Amino acid sequence: MERDQLIDLTRRALKLARDKTTDLAPAQHRVDAQAYTSAERHDRDRAMVMASPQLVGYVSELPGPGAYCTKTVMGRSILLTRTADGSVKAFDNVCLHRQSQVATGCGSAKRFTCPYHAWTYDNDGRLVGLPGREGFADVTIRADGLTELPAAEFAGFLWVALDPGTTLDVAAHLGPLAEELDSWGIGRWSPLGEKVLDCPINWKLAVDTFSENYHFATVHQQTFATIARSNCTVFDAFGPHHRLIFPLNTILTLDEVPEEQWDPFQNMVVIYALFPNIVLSVTIANGELFRIYPGDRPGRSITVHQNSTPLDLSDESTAAGAQAVFEYAHATVRDEDYRLAEGLQANLESGARDHLLFGRNEPGLQHRHNAWAQALAGDSLGGQHRQ
Ligand code: FES
Ligand SMILES: [Fe+2]
Repeated sequence: MERDQLIDLTRRALKLARDKTTDLAPAQHRVDAQAYTSAERHDRDRAMVMASPQLVGYVSELPGPGAYCTKTVMGRSILLTRTADGSVKAFDNVCLHRQSQVATGCGSAKRFTCPYHAWTYDNDGRLVGLPGREGFADVTIRADGLTELPAAEFAGFLWVALDPGTTLDVAAHLGPLAEELDSWGIGRWSPLGEKVLDCPINWKLAVDTFSENYHFATVHQQTFATIARSNCTVFDAFGPHHRLIFPLNTILTLDEVPEEQWDPFQNMVVIYALFPNIVLSVTIANGELFRIYPGDRPGRSITVHQNSTPLDLSDESTAAGAQAVFEYAHATVRDEDYRLAEGLQANLESGARDHLLFGRNEPGLQHRHNAWAQALAGDSLGGQHRQ
């Protein structure tokens, strides 16, 4: 992000902090409890996620030709490779024979040998080896291969479309946010791995926890609230996506400092909600990614939490420190946000009360739910089109 823009955002954040207020939506908002509990809504939510371009990781997870990684998206195993010409490809990680996963984890490999009967694929997905050839007269070496999914690297991230019959237009999906996301460079920082939360909460409750900082002073009293302000957010919408700035407590010290000397990034956390199910949290030292997926029923979701760091991980103590920071952030989400959300899900499912309230001071939350509602009402999802 350009310094001018960062300074402008810092000015806005400082004014909110000084005035002890937050950006406000025009009005209070109500959401039906059923949005989190109905099977019919859940099916539509799953279809919405399936139909949207999916950010699945950092470009740094495929550092060079021959690199590969595997991802699970909505229960579907996907193999991503960087081929000899440097391009990114994605495939269903499903063997043509009896559907074993042909690859696991990540690393460097130009060929993938299925662990079941050793059918072998190259990193363009082509079948290149078939032991017991005489058993499979109808299978053709090189012509047959793994099912390819549309894939791209864009704005520093890896993207796939889950439907092989679609085209993937991430530029159209991100619109004006693309350049800004790319500018942080977090997708090129060193990846620190994945941590998975399989939780008895609707996927939207999981996203909701990242959509406001009104809860910091209570839920994160001993953790985030010791460094970040509560109920104080700069909010901007970008089509179906939004950006929140959470000012740190230190921001008030800028009152004493001339603007030319401001170091904006020392005083804020930047949160992006990318439609429909992705959250990014950017600080000077961490590029966190939360991929939040609807589960097999309304009251279950899977969150894949990733982090990247600009630090040089070849130094052992630096690497251990970066992992400790990641673990701390993860434990906070798991033990504070999601644990509390389990109680919300139980209450929503009990039917005791038929709606929730989103305040004027929760504009990100309102925007998130409005963006979903508009998409479900049939407005263009953008970024992915059936051929
Ligand atoms: S399932 Fe892959 S070789 Fe048999
Ligand atoms: Fe939280």
